[in-house]
Amino acid sequence: MSQFLSSLLILSFFFFFFNSLGTNSSPLSTRCPTHHCGNVTISYPFWVHNVSEQLLCGYEGFGVRCEKGKVILGLPGDWHTYYVKDINYTDYTLTLVDIDVTNQSCPRASHNVSLGTLPLKYSSMDLNLSFNFNCTFYPPTVPSIPCLNIGTNRSYVFVENHETEDFDWSKNCEEKVVVPVKQTQINTGNLIGGFGMAMNGGFLLDWGRVKNCGTCESSGGYCGYNIIAEELFCFCNDGIIRRGSCKDHSRTNILWLFVGLAASGVGMLLTYITIRWLRSKRSTTSTKNGRDLEAFIRNYRPPALNRYKFFELKKLTNSFKDELGQGGYGRVYRGRLLNGRLVAVKVLNASKGNGEEFINEVASISRTSHVNIVTLLGFCIDGLKRALIYEFMPNGSLEKFIHNCSSEKITPLLEWEKLFQIAIGIARGLEYLHRGCNTRILHFDIKPHNILLDENFCPKISDFGLAKLCTQEGSNISITGARGTIGYIAPEVFCRNFGEVSHKSDVYSYGMMMLEIVGGKKKIDVVVSHTSEIYFSHLIYRCLELDSDLGFSSNMTIEENEMVRKMILAGLWCIQTNPFDRPSISKVIEMLEGNIEALKIPPKPFLFSPPGSPAQESSTTSIL
Ligand SMILES: *[C@@H]1O[C@H](CO)[C@@H](O)[C@H](O)[C@H]1NC(C)=O
Ligand SMILES: *[C@@H]1O[C@H](CO)[C@@H](O)[C@H](O)[C@H]1NC(C)=O
Ligand SMILES: *[C@@H]1O[C@H](CO)[C@@H](O)[C@H](O)[C@H]1NC(C)=O
Ligand SMILES: *[C@@H]1O[C@H](CO)[C@@H](O)[C@H](O)[C@H]1NC(C)=O
Ligand SMILES: *[C@@H]1O[C@H](CO)[C@@H](O)[C@H](O)[C@H]1NC(C)=O
Ligand SMILES: *[C@@H]1O[C@H](CO)[C@@H](O)[C@H](O)[C@H]1NC(C)=O
Ligand SMILES: *[C@@H]1O[C@H](CO)[C@@H](O)[C@H](O)[C@H]1NC(C)=O
Ligand SMILES: *[C@@H]1O[C@H](CO)[C@@H](O)[C@H](O)[C@H]1NC(C)=O
Repeated sequence: MSQFLSSLLILSFFFFFFNSLGTNSSPLSTRCPTHHCGNVTISYPFWVHNVSEQLLCGYEGFGVRCEKGKVILGLPGDWHTYYVKDINYTDYTLTLVDIDVTNQSCPRASHNVSLGTLPLKYSSMDLNLSFNFNCTFYPPTVPSIPCLNIGTNRSYVFVENHETEDFDWSKNCEEKVVVPVKQTQINTGNLIGGFGMAMNGGFLLDWGRVKNCGTCESSGGYCGYNIIAEELFCFCNDGIIRRGSCKDHSRTNILWLFVGLAASGVGMLLTYITIRWLRSKRSTTSTKNGRDLEAFIRNYRPPALNRYKFFELKKLTNSFKDELGQGGYGRVYRGRLLNGRLVAVKVLNASKGNGEEFINEVASISRTSHVNIVTLLGFCIDGLKRALIYEFMPNGSLEKFIHNCSSEKITPLLEWEKLFQIAIGIARGLEYLHRGCNTRILHFDIKPHNILLDENFCPKISDFGLAKLCTQEGSNISITGARGTIGYIAPEVFCRNFGEVSHKSDVYSYGMMMLEIVGGKKKIDVVVSHTSEIYFSHLIYRCLELDSDLGFSSNMTIEENEMVRKMILAGLWCIQTNPFDRPSISKVIEMLEGNIEALKIPPKPFLFSPPGSPAQESSTTSIL
């Protein structure tokens, strides 16, 4: 009952907050800060992306990133990125340079500029250059761009609408692209010699006011946007966040206060139920349609990530000829980028409908950069088709190497030394995810299948479809529904009686995997279906046996013996039923790299003991 009362209290707080009563007293200067990046000043309505901010101050779509002193902005359409050379707050102009063309004397423009519904306009100071590339047939007297000619193909540039009218360019050329440049930079007499410089000089856009922000701004507030709820807000000078304008609330504030106070428990209960309902509804529908995905991509897409059209993927993968494998979320194909780089293209099942796993994957993986985490190179959202493009891992998944005995294919088993290095590598990757500066990432699906090996057998964690970003440092999190793969899921994930879901849940999966590595290598006679629980209890049982008798193989060196022992002991620590008893992943690395003598024998985990009787009975020493 007290729990109910406290939730009522919390709820009433939110009730007030969302009815614009909550006095959030942080001043505007921290709400709507001014940033300096290189020579560019970024202030309202422009804002700098910040993964830990849900409420942003500025216009949606006006979010920029600052990287190495350069300001980067994505424009709608395909969210191609541009350097922001200048923002002029006096005459409301923006100078952009296409990121593809910087510092090139002969740039090949490949993106039309698209402004979507943003409050941006083409400036009257610009004129449009129209390019026609790879023309196979052309009038002989029209000069072409020499540096873009390939074989007998020619490419042309014109000031828009000054094309040679009596020639059908679109029919005879492969691609047309139209880009604006500053009028003053163009010498129409020498267009071909000067277009590169002109494009490097950038183009101007006029920016204006967002329509719905009118009432807020004219009442002295700053327009803000809630990325998660996709709602407009108004940041007012008195530090209060309001829905509409800053003026007409002083009277209604008091009115609302009475209404709020008068609201009976029934009212509260209704709110409570509604919020619960909305929440459960939100979690299944918020990312459902393409618009939400687009909004997500707009707000979170890192500039380095390329967007592909589906037909381009088809080209890259040779019409999806070469299937590499199949996961829970779709099929993976081998492909080759135009620059020759091999990639793995994961096409997500369209039937799954909601984009949650897509968003999880892009959001978590795109903000990571670690040698033990697979690199995301690009993505595709094209109608209902969604795909992710990763670096290619020639050695496939770890699973292949530890379930060797049950597979038809003969893959050479890895030596202990390699497996040990792989275990440490995975732990390092996890440590990186768990440590994250702003956002810690919980993977929730650590298993051999999701560990990929590069040409040197360096392990990389992949498949972030179930991952969860936690912005509050060190906090426990709530998740809806059990996630993960049976056999690797920590007990608390499917039954809260075991404890709070946290980074320790990944540690559990990691421990299971490590024991499986040891077990697989030892060719323990296992049930083939490695997702069955029987397999795991059996495996652990066997591991305990091994533990008591580690002289099991005559051809194992002392070093190997020690590595295996460390893996088993650390693994057993990781799979303690009570999350509290499990080490953090950093501690696991210490265990693996440290002295074997320092490793305590873990208490026997009671893996399938009934809820409510957690394993404390046997574990008194916590190694945290
Ligand atoms: C910043 O401005 C200075 C002086 O105007 C200029 O020399 C420099 O190149 C600019 N730096 C950048 C990154 O634009
Ligand atoms: C992001 O937001 C957090 C919390 O508001 C703040 O502490 C941090 O400094 C911000 N980071 C950047 C790069 O602005
Ligand atoms: C902004 O543009 C105005 C008018 O073109 C110009 O006078 C002013 O110097 C510019 N401001 C900056 C900071 O460049
Ligand atoms: C472009 O050239 C300038 C100076 O020549 C250099 O500072 C800058 O890093 C170059 N930018 C890129 C993207 O190569
Ligand atoms: C350049 O092209 C855009 C988009 O097609 C158009 O809106 C704009 O008016 C053009 N600018 C000029 C100066 O023709
Ligand atoms: C012309 O087409 C070829 C083959 O598709 C391509 O490699 C090349 O980049 C194209 N050239 C231009 C200038 O678009
Ligand atoms: C010439 O352009 C055509 C398309 O217009 C393209 O298919 C062909 O590959 C190009 N040839 C070369 C040598 O790039
Ligand atoms: C760019 O826009 C023109 C029309 O202005 C269109 O014909 C062309 O196909 C577009 N190019 C690309 C690459 O989207």
